[in-house]
Amino acid sequence: MEFLDAIKKRYSVRSYKPDPVEQEKLAIILEAARLAPTAANRQAFKVIVIETSGRKEDLKKIYGKDWFGEAPLVLGVCSIPGGCWVRSDKKNYSDVDAAIVMDHIILAATDQGLGTCWVGAFNLQAAKEVLGLDDSMEPVAFTPLGYAKDTMIKKSRKSLDDLVIYK
Ligand SMILES: Cc1cc2nc3c(=O)[nH]c(=O)nc-3n(C[C@H](O)[C@H](O)[C@H](O)COP(=O)(O)O)c2cc1C
Repeated sequence: MEFLDAIKKRYSVRSYKPDPVEQEKLAIILEAARLAPTAANRQAFKVIVIETSGRKEDLKKIYGKDWFGEAPLVLGVCSIPGGCWVRSDKKNYSDVDAAIVMDHIILAATDQGLGTCWVGAFNLQAAKEVLGLDDSMEPVAFTPLGYAKDTMIKKSRKSLDDLVIYK
C-alpha cells in the first residue's frame, strides 16, 4: 500500500471480526513500533500485546465499550517517563514519544489490512492493575487490533486553510 493510501484508509474501527491476526502481520506491526523515532533516541517505551480471549471482563475495566475486547488483540503503548528526554524548560517528551509509537503501529496495521482505534479515554488505574504495571510505566494509549466488521464513514476534517499558518 502506498504511504498516503494507508493514511487515507485508516479510520477508527469500532466493530471487529473474531478472525485471528496472523503472526507475520503482528511481527511487521511491532517492527514498525520498534523503528519509531523518540526524542534523543531514548526508546523509553513498552508495547504490551494483550490476547483478548478469556480477558473480556479485565478489558472492560480498562475501557468499557464492548468493541474494545472484540478483536483478538489489544495493543497498549506505555511510556517510561523517567527514561524519556526532558527539554531544558522541564517539558518531558514521554507522551510525544508514545504517540509516535502508537501512530506507527496504527498505520502499519492499516497497511496490513487490519483495523485499529486509538483509545485514550481508558481508566488509568484499572489499566495499571490489570496489566500489573509498576509506577515507572505509564499507559498512554491502547488500540484493538483485528479485522474490521464496519466500514469507513467520510472523514470530517477542517480545511488546510484552517490548519496551516504560513509566516
Ligand atoms: C489521542 C487519541 C485518543 C482517542 N481516544 C479515543 C477513545 O478513547 N475512544 C474512541 O472511541 N475514540 C478515540 N479516538 C479516536 C478519535 O475519536 C478519532 O480518531 C477521530 O474522531 C477521527 O476519526 P477517524 O479516526 O475515524 O479518522 C482517539 C483518537 C486519538 C488521536
